[in-house]
Amino acid sequence: MAMIAKQCPDIPVHVVDLNQERIDAWNSDQLPIYEPGLEEVVKEARGRNLTFSTRVDDAIQEADIIFISVNTPTKTFGIGAGRAANLEFIEKCARQIAKNATGHKIVVEKSTLPVRTAEAVKRILSSECSGATFDVLSNPEFLAEGTAIDDLLNPDRVLIGGESEAAIETLCSVYARWIPLEQILTTNLWSSELSKLTANAFLAQRVSSINAMSALCEATGADIDEVARAIGSDSRIGPKFLKASIGFGGSCFQKDILNLVYLCDHFGLREVANYWEQVVVMNDYQKRRFSEDIVKTMFNTVSDKKIGIWGFAFKKDPNDTRESAAIYVCRDLLRERARLCIHDPRVPEKQIRQELMAACTDMSGNLTEKDRWLVENNVSIAKDCYEAADDAHAIAVLTEWDEFKTIDFEKVHLSMHRPSFLFDGRNLLDQTTMDAIGFEMHAIGKSFNRQNSPN
Ligand code: UDX
Repeated sequence: MAMIAKQCPDIPVHVVDLNQERIDAWNSDQLPIYEPGLEEVVKEARGRNLTFSTRVDDAIQEADIIFISVNTPTKTFGIGAGRAANLEFIEKCARQIAKNATGHKIVVEKSTLPVRTAEAVKRILSSECSGATFDVLSNPEFLAEGTAIDDLLNPDRVLIGGESEAAIETLCSVYARWIPLEQILTTNLWSSELSKLTANAFLAQRVSSINAMSALCEATGADIDEVARAIGSDSRIGPKFLKASIGFGGSCFQKDILNLVYLCDHFGLREVANYWEQVVVMNDYQKRRFSEDIVKTMFNTVSDKKIGIWGFAFKKDPNDTRESAAIYVCRDLLRERARLCIHDPRVPEKQIRQELMAACTDMSGNLTEKDRWLVENNVSIAKDCYEAADDAHAIAVLTEWDEFKTIDFEKVHLSMHRPSFLFDGRNLLDQTTMDAIGFEMHAIGKSFNRQNSPN
C-alpha cells in the first residue's frame, strides 16, 4: 500500500488495522517491520496521501477499492489442523465490509488464499442487505522479503483475477502508473488464487530438489554448487533458487504447500496431494539431517558442548524468523543437550526464545518441563560472532548474513576448542580458506572425506 501511495500521489491510501500499537508504530520513526528501503517509501508518502489509523469503519465507507491483507496462518485446531488455512480473519474483514459499505466497492483479496475463497467472500458481502454492491478481485502478492521494494517497483508481473471487466480495468489503471501493461496479467478469479499457491509450491520444490541432491552429493563426492551451476546454465532450468541450504523457511512456503495439499485432498486428488507434500517432507529431512550430522561428526555427542550459532533469521536481511530452519536445528541440538550461544545481527533475544519455546510445544499446547529448562538454561545470546564462538566446540552458520564472510576467522579459531568444527549450513564460507586456518569445515552437499583427499 505504501508503494501504491508513493507511485500515485493523487490516490489517497488509508491503511487500517484493529491493533492500535501496530498503527502507532506505522506512524512513528520505528516501523513495526524491517525491510530495506521501506522507511524511505513510507516517509515520502505518509502525511501526503498515505495514512495509518484504526478507523476501520470510516475507511470502508470512504474507499472505492478495499484490499484485504490480513494473514491466513495454518490452522492449529479442528478440521484440517496443521494443513488448511485459517480463514477466520478474512471472514471477519468481509463481514465488517458488508456491514459498513455503501454504494459500490471493489474488494481485492491480497492475502494468499485457498482456491474459491472469493466465492465465500462474495456470499458474505452480499449477505447484508445494505444496498451496497461489490466486485471481488484476486490480486496476489509475489514480493520476497529483503527485496520487497524492488520487487514492488519492478515486478516480473502483476496478477489480477476477476469476473468484472470494469473492476479489473480500475485496478489495472492503478498499477499501470508504473508497471508496463504487458506485465499486468489478467485471469479468472480461481486461476489467480491458484497461481499464487502454485508459484510458491514450484519455488519451494526447487529448493527441496537441490537439497535432496545435496544429500546424494555428500554420499558420492559430487559438489552441489558445481551441480547447481551445471544444471542452472540450461536455459530451461535457469540458475535461480538452486542454492542448497539447511532448508527453506519464511512465512509462505510451508504454509502455502500445506494448504495446497489440503485442497488437493479435499478434491479427492490423493496422488497430487502426496506429490506436493513431499516438498515439505524433504525440507524437514534436510533440517533434521543437518543437526544429526553435527552430532555424528562431534563424536556422537554434543551434550554440554558449547555450539556457536551464527544467524537465526530465515534468510539474510529481514529480521523475520517465521518457520526459520534455524529454529528446528537449534531445537534438535538443545534436545541433544548442547549449550547454544546464538548471534543474529537483527533478531532480538526475546524473539529467539519465543520461537524456541514454540518449536518445543506440541499441537495441543504442551511444553515439557525439560524442554522449557533447556531453552531457559542452555541458550545464551551473544552480541557478536566472536562471543558466540568463544570457547565453543563448533560453529553452525544458519543464515547467510554477508557480515559473516568478513569475520576475523583466525581470531575465532584461536578462541575455540580443537578440533574446531565449522558447519556451514548456507555454503557461505570459502572451504580452502577455512581449511588453511585449521577449521574442520562441513558444508551442505560437499562430502567431507572427499573434500580433504584429492583421490
Ligand atoms: C517467498 C516467495 O519468493 C515470494 O514470491 C512470495 O511472495 C513469498 O514467499 P520469501 O519467503 O520472502 O518469499 O523468501 P525467499 O527468498 O523465497 O526464500 C524462502 C526460503 O527459501 C528462505 O529460507 C531461503 O533461505 C530459502 N532458499 C531460497 C534456499 O534455501 N535456496 C534458494 O536457492 C532460495
